[in-house]
Amino acid sequence: METIKTIDYTITIDNGLFDNIAQLLKTHTNGTCHIIVDSKVYKLYQESLKKNLEAINYTITIVRDGEGSKSFTTYQDTVAKLIQKGIRRDDLLVALGGGVIGDLCGFIAATLYRGIPFVQIPTTLLSMVDSSIGGKTAINLPQGKNLVGAFNMPEAVFIDPEFLSTLEENQLRSGLVEVYKAALLGDKNLLEDLKVDRLDNQVIKRAIEVKRIIVEQDPYDQGARLVLNFGHTFGHAIEKAHNFETYTHGEAVAEGIIMALQIGVDQGITPNALCHEIKAILLEKHLVTEPLLNYKDYLPYISHDKKMSRDGLRFVFLKDYEHPVIKTIDQGAL
Ligand SMILES: NC(=O)c1ccc[n+]([C@@H]2O[C@H](COP(=O)([O-])OP(=O)(O)OC[C@H]3O[C@@H](n4cnc5c(N)ncnc54)[C@H](O)[C@@H]3O)[C@@H](O)[C@H]2O)c1
Repeated sequence: METIKTIDYTITIDNGLFDNIAQLLKTHTNGTCHIIVDSKVYKLYQESLKKNLEAINYTITIVRDGEGSKSFTTYQDTVAKLIQKGIRRDDLLVALGGGVIGDLCGFIAATLYRGIPFVQIPTTLLSMVDSSIGGKTAINLPQGKNLVGAFNMPEAVFIDPEFLSTLEENQLRSGLVEVYKAALLGDKNLLEDLKVDRLDNQVIKRAIEVKRIIVEQDPYDQGARLVLNFGHTFGHAIEKAHNFETYTHGEAVAEGIIMALQIGVDQGITPNALCHEIKAILLEKHLVTEPLLNYKDYLPYISHDKKMSRDGLRFVFLKDYEHPVIKTIDQGAL
């Protein structure tokens, strides 16, 4: 078993942890556990979910799987169902699923009755190494992703890597991109380990550690935390341009990382050799495929992104491995 202690909560990583989930949840509430799960995860895990929860009071609320559920409509429907089920302020909300469920459930937990405790049980690689960590919760608006949200730390994060056995290949790749992002930002040795295609609990732990260290420097995203957006400025634009259908989040971020490297070279920040090296790694690991996308095609889609400041576009570049640089550039200069 691996544990990571953040300032506010503990992250536990253990194979088979889900079998003991009732015991773990019991340490966080004497009330009812309200599980929010997406339809796909529910279909795959309903038997074990019901068996594992036998010893505690619980309700299950199922939302449709996919990014579309990070919406006001789903927020409202889910809250209505929870109230109908008699949810109280001293109950516990439980996000069982990927980043969509974590973000939605965390936002409900931040806002329903002005706050209900919640825990995260991430079931995708992306949610294990990224979205369940750091307390950012949000839903989307037609104008853009994550535009309405709250900082809301979970009580705990319980990671059972065995969930990954049912994850589709493209979703696994999507999470792997965030592992590579973490390695590029803060753990070059992890990059070496990833060369042998080893995805074990240590890899998950080290990717989380990179995020934990960055988040703890800047929990409310006022400065340092922005580096986690490496590859995301264009990543989000790519997802939006393709209606969140053609590319998974991670696939879009992988393209966005290469775009950030190329623009970094043009800006005189990123060495050409570094850009080529990282591009070669992402291509070799099939995290991007040729022909690569052209960032100029996605410029119109970044105008509503939260990364726009009054002075221009706040961009994350890489000066070297483990050396991200934040720079505001005029969008017209791209
Ligand atoms: N809060 C944050 O800090 C943060 C950080 C990064 C990303 N995000 C958000 O996370 C979301 C993306 O998360 P995601 O990639 O996990 O997407 P997701 O939650 O949509 O999950 C991807 C797909 O995998 C399925 N799935 C989940 N677990 C499974 C399992 N064990 N086996 C089989 N299928 C499974 C889901 O049903 C879904 O179809 C985006 O909305 C993004 O904005 C948030």
